[in-house]
Amino acid sequence: RAGELGDRLQVSVYAVGGFVRDIMLSRPAVEFDDVDLVVEGDGIAFARALAQELGGRVREHRTFMTALIIYHDENGEEQRLDVATARLEYYKYPAALPTVELSSIKMDLFRRDFTINAMALRLNKGQFGCLVDFFGGQSDIQRKTIRIIHALSFVEDPTRIIRAVRFEQRYGFHISTQGEKLIKNALSLNLVEKLSGARILHELNLIFREDEPETCLRRLNELGVLAAIHPSLVLNADKNELLDSLREVIDWYRLLYFKETPELSTLYLMALCSAVPAIETADILHRLGLTPTMREEILSLRESVRMTLVELINWHRDTQKKGQAEQSVSRLCALLAPLPLESTLYLMARSDNEEISSSVSQYIYKWRQIKVDINGDDLHRLGLEPGPQFGSVMRMVLAAKLDGKAETREAQLKLAEE
Ligand code: CTP
Repeated sequence: RAGELGDRLQVSVYAVGGFVRDIMLSRPAVEFDDVDLVVEGDGIAFARALAQELGGRVREHRTFMTALIIYHDENGEEQRLDVATARLEYYKYPAALPTVELSSIKMDLFRRDFTINAMALRLNKGQFGCLVDFFGGQSDIQRKTIRIIHALSFVEDPTRIIRAVRFEQRYGFHISTQGEKLIKNALSLNLVEKLSGARILHELNLIFREDEPETCLRRLNELGVLAAIHPSLVLNADKNELLDSLREVIDWYRLLYFKETPELSTLYLMALCSAVPAIETADILHRLGLTPTMREEILSLRESVRMTLVELINWHRDTQKKGQAEQSVSRLCALLAPLPLESTLYLMARSDNEEISSSVSQYIYKWRQIKVDINGDDLHRLGLEPGPQFGSVMRMVLAAKLDGKAETREAQLKLAEE
């Protein structure tokens, strides 16, 4: 439809960037809802017309001559289409935002990061599907290479250093020799230091969402990028081990298909700052642009994990003793219930005691879900008045159920009555 509209409006329309790259890579999960379009002509006018056809709305960015179309597809799902105007960009100084001037598709592709991301597919009817590949993207895909299009690419946008690593590790490619030299050069010019914390954090968050974030983090470490962001971010053997077990825990949790998803940023930032003293950790988080409240939150999560781990060790020791094992589940649940999901998962990754980790995993997939089979009405019928007493009776009944002492509703009613 975009191509047909382009024909009618007499403008050339292309799909560009990651969408084309992933088609060329025959990636099984090409996301058709993540399409970037480029129009040789007035991109905003085109976006308005396309949004009208799709029954969607447009968010315009006049300064950049771009627009975002938000519409609902035939399944009623919200979809987003980015529309850009083919343009030539000038950068006022390194790491600054671009100023914009109109130009053609070749210039649009030239200003992009890597050759594999600088291919376009023509959408107009007569040439539908024709590949536009000025910079050898297709052959770099074959050679599994991340190649920078022009020598100033990292100077114009140093976040591309982090992107290069992300694509390299995601696809099992390698950054070209020239690319590695340009990264070293950018680092020696302190270009990463000049980036804002928010932009770095945005790129790191994209890495945390990859299938294997730890491989990207290791490569960033090897290239000296982590050190350039903050010297205390560098990896050591302990952090490496923690990153591996964190990924195992996250993968395990994903397979449970629970609705609640953990904040990956919180988990990975905790891991990257593990064993770093609190003041330095606050400094790293400040460097990454986190607000004082967010910094405080991560620091206090980390502290609560540390304290809970100590209590879990005591709990584990007690459960080994005779006569104590009976209340082990309810005691464990009472320790873990106040923690948010992120802390519980982090704790699982951090614990080097297998039995503790295994108990925490049972808490996450089983015990956390257990509810009592009686309700407030039942307690009322038993003559209890609503108030704090309700809560304490319910907690006691739940503890008994968790410990296998009151599994049926009848047993729970009897216990509540007593
Ligand atoms: N791009 C760029 N420089 C950047 C960011 C983006 O040149 N710093 C260009 C690339 O051509 C990229 C496109 O903009 O392909 C879209 O960027 P983005 O949506 O961030 O990434 P994708 O390539 O779609 O990758 P992903 O699979 O991670 O979404």
